[in-house]
Amino acid sequence: MKHSMMPLAAFLGFYLGLASAELVQSGSICTVTPLGGSSDDTPQIKKAFSQCSKDSQIIFQEGTYNIRQVMEFTNLKNVSIDIYGKWVWSADNLQYWISNTLPVTYAGLHTGWKLGGTDIALRGHGKALFDGNGQAWIDENRGGSNRKGRPINLTIWRATNVFVDGITWRQSQFWHTFVAYSKNVTMTNLDMRTRSNSQWSAVNTDGIDTWNSEDVTIRNWTVECYDDCISIKGNSKNIIAQNITCYESGCAVIGSIANGATETVDNVLFQDFKCNHSSNAAWIKTYPGQGHVRNVTFRNFEFSDVDQPIYVTSCIYSNQNCDSSRLPIEDITWENVKGTSRWNVAAGMHCSSAAPCKGFKFKDVDIRPKAGGTAKVLCSNIKGQADMGLACTGTCPAGWPQQLKGNR
Ligand SMILES: *[C@@H]1O[C@H](CO)[C@@H](O)[C@H](O)[C@H]1NC(C)=O
Ligand SMILES: *[C@@H]1O[C@H](CO)[C@@H](O)[C@H](O)[C@H]1NC(C)=O
Ligand SMILES: *[C@@H]1O[C@H](CO)[C@@H](O)[C@H](O)[C@H]1NC(C)=O
Ligand SMILES: *[C@@H]1O[C@H](CO)[C@@H](O)[C@H](O)[C@H]1NC(C)=O
Ligand SMILES: *[C@@H]1O[C@H](CO)[C@@H](O)[C@H](O)[C@H]1NC(C)=O
Ligand SMILES: *[C@@H]1O[C@H](CO)[C@@H](O)[C@H](O)[C@H]1NC(C)=O
Ligand SMILES: *[C@@H]1O[C@H](CO)[C@@H](O)[C@H](O)[C@H]1NC(C)=O
Repeated sequence: MKHSMMPLAAFLGFYLGLASAELVQSGSICTVTPLGGSSDDTPQIKKAFSQCSKDSQIIFQEGTYNIRQVMEFTNLKNVSIDIYGKWVWSADNLQYWISNTLPVTYAGLHTGWKLGGTDIALRGHGKALFDGNGQAWIDENRGGSNRKGRPINLTIWRATNVFVDGITWRQSQFWHTFVAYSKNVTMTNLDMRTRSNSQWSAVNTDGIDTWNSEDVTIRNWTVECYDDCISIKGNSKNIIAQNITCYESGCAVIGSIANGATETVDNVLFQDFKCNHSSNAAWIKTYPGQGHVRNVTFRNFEFSDVDQPIYVTSCIYSNQNCDSSRLPIEDITWENVKGTSRWNVAAGMHCSSAAPCKGFKFKDVDIRPKAGGTAKVLCSNIKGQADMGLACTGTCPAGWPQQLKGNR
C-alpha cells in the first residue's frame, strides 16, 4: 500500500511544482524522505520547514538523514513535526561547525539547531535518533570546557507552547538540549547518552539547561552524560522535572547562575530522581553576584556512590568572594533523599555571609557513606539551622569543593 502510494504522491508533488525529489508537499503536510548515501539532507529539511512553517505537519520518514549545515527554524506557527528517522550530524567538517554554529547568547555558546515559534510539537515516536558524532568533538576539545562553536544539539529558542516527545540522542556534540527565552515547554520520554571512548572525557554534555524560560515540564528521561543532567540556569521559573534517571552525571542542579548578571530562579520541583554514580545529587551552585534562588524542592531521590550528594555554594568555580555574594538562596526543601555517599560527607553547604541562606528544610534525608559509619553535614551561614530537620555536624569552609575525592 505504502509502496504504491509513494510514487503517486511524489508525482503530484512534482506536478504541482512544490517539491524537490525527496520532499513532497500535499496540502498542509510536508513529507521528507532521506536522499540516501552521503548526500546532505539539510537543504530538503530546510525547504520542508519553510514550506510547512504554519498550520502544518512535517513528516520525516524512516532512514538516515545527513545534517551538514546549521538549521534555524524560528518562526514556526502551529507545526507538528514527526521524525521516524535517524539524523546524523556530520563530523568530517568540524571547522564548518566551529565557524557557522549559531550563537545562543549564553556564555558564548553556540548551537547547531534552533527551533522557535509557537505551538510546536516535535515527536520522535520512540524512533527518532539524533547522532551528534560527539566523539569527534570530545577528542577535538581534549577535556576543555566551553569550546566555542561546539554545537548544542537542539535549542528551543524564543518558543511558546512546545511539546517534544520520544527522541533518542547518542553522542551529542555538547549540551543535548537547551531551552532559552521560551514559555510552556514540555519534554517527555527522552533518552540521551554521550559516552567517551577515548582518553578525553565528555565535558559539558549536559542533558538539558533551561535559561530565561518559564513553565517547563521535563518527564520520563534517561540520561547518561558525564556532566550536569538536569540543570536549571538563570531566570528560570516554574520548572518541573519528574521521573528522571541520570547515569554518570551531576544529576539535579540549580545553576550555575549569576555569572556577571543579576539572575533569579523560582519555583522548581525535582521529583522522583535516580542518580547512578553521580558527582552530586541535589544541589545549587551560584557565582558570587546578585539575584536569588527561591522555592526549590528536591523530592524522592535515590542514589548510590555519589561523591557529594548535597552541595550548596555561593562561589562556584572560582571559590572566591564566597561571603560577599548578595544572592540569597531560600525556601529550599530536600525530602525523601536517600542513598550512599562515596566519602564521609552527606552535605557541604556554604552560603554567603552577606546574604545567608534561609528556609532550608530537610525531611527524611538519609545519606550514609558507602563504606559505613556516619556522614558529615557541613553548614555555614544558614539561618534557622536548629529546626531545619537535619543536624549540622560542623561548619563548611568557604571555597569547599564540589567533589571531594576522599574522606574529609
Ligand atoms: C493547526 O494546524 C493543523 C494542520 O496541521 C490544522 O488542522 C489546525 O486547524 C491548526 N490549528 C489552528 C488553531 O489553526
Ligand atoms: C543533534 O540532533 C540531530 C537531530 O536532531 C542529530 O542528527 C545530531 O547528530 C545531533 N547532534 C548532536 C550534537 O547531538
Ligand atoms: C502549553 O503547550 C501545550 C503543548 O505542549 C498546549 O497543549 C497547551 O495548551 C499550552 N498551554 C497554554 C496555557 O497555552
Ligand atoms: C512515562 O512513561 C510511562 C511508561 O512508559 C508512560 O505510561 C507515561 O505516560 C509516561 N509519561 C509521560 C508524561 O509521557
Ligand atoms: C519513568 O521514565 C522511564 C523512562 O525513562 C519509564 O520507563 C518509566 O516507566 C517511567 N515511570 C513512570 C512511573 O512513569
Ligand atoms: C513553589 O514551587 C512549587 C513548584 O515546585 C509551586 O507549586 C508553588 O506554588 C511555589 N510556591 C510559591 C509560594 O510560589
Ligand atoms: C547503576 O547502574 C549500573 C549499570 O547500569 C547498575 O549495575 C547498578 O545496579 C545501578 N545502581 C543503582 C543504585 O541503580
